[in-house]
Amino acid sequence: MSVTVRVPAKVNAQLGVGGLRADGFHDLANVFFAVALADEVTATPGEGVTLSCEGPDAHVVPLDDSNLAARAARLLAAHHGLADPGVHLHITKAIPVAGGMAGGSADGAAALVACDALWGLDTPLPVLLELAAELGSDVPFALLGGVALGRGRGEILEPLPVAGTFHWVFAVADGGLSTPAVFRECDRLRSEAGTGFTDTDVPTPDADPALLAALADGDPVALADALANDLQAAALSLRPALADTLRAGTDAGALAALVSGSGPTCAFLTKDAETAAHVAAALRASGTCRTAHATHGPVPGAVVRTG
Ligand code: C5P
Repeated sequence: MSVTVRVPAKVNAQLGVGGLRADGFHDLANVFFAVALADEVTATPGEGVTLSCEGPDAHVVPLDDSNLAARAARLLAAHHGLADPGVHLHITKAIPVAGGMAGGSADGAAALVACDALWGLDTPLPVLLELAAELGSDVPFALLGGVALGRGRGEILEPLPVAGTFHWVFAVADGGLSTPAVFRECDRLRSEAGTGFTDTDVPTPDADPALLAALADGDPVALADALANDLQAAALSLRPALADTLRAGTDAGALAALVSGSGPTCAFLTKDAETAAHVAAALRASGTCRTAHATHGPVPGAVVRTG
């Protein structure tokens, strides 16, 4: 028997970053948007918790207990008091690694769902969401999918209404960026600018009403105007060449360009699927990224693949 779970990547349509909290995290107004670029995690019975991975980035995916998929399997087993969990998890990786698209978090969410089905546990969704939040700030959203506002460190989710389908392009960089390093750079830039960087200095961010309206209306032009990422300056400071990637996408006809989450993947919103395919081809030819994918969303979160 085996269970395969498909799980989407995310882009942040808005990433509002508050000040540094005493616990080392930042309060966010995080509008998560799930896109069809997806990993698959297949769970089969095994001895202990073991991992394997295939895909163009497989060589940089850790196959030890630092992988969120392995940690998810162990956390679910511990929650249910399973003394000796046995599972092999095979990850088919399409989401860029350390790319700002929550690929590791997606694999953690997929492993929760896959092991739950393999072990016949029937864990209720609210419990899976709590376990997901223990694994990482972006893991709960990968369970839910669609479009949602994440508050707190990103784990307190409120699904958002969205109409129709939006068309995106993602330009994948060579090499990743460390999320904690990008948050630290954001703090450093704020400190350098003299505005302060702690949660007593920086107001708690809120979702932009214009962005929420654009999503609810299914209006890509209005959404393009409202896209915002408070980590973008930090990602560009650590990787200045990303400015060339952003420009190449808008020159090719994207409505807007922004860094995806903590980067270095760059995201481009386009008016339709045809433009997305054109922008992806132009980015691949531009020499400013390793590759580019045209995709769409929103799509559902981690689901067992049938058939
Ligand atoms: O929750 P997760 O393990 O994905 O977070 C990784 C790191 O990113 C945290 O240790 C922290 O440095 C940073 N982070 C943050 N504020 C958030 C989410 C993550 O500072 N809301």
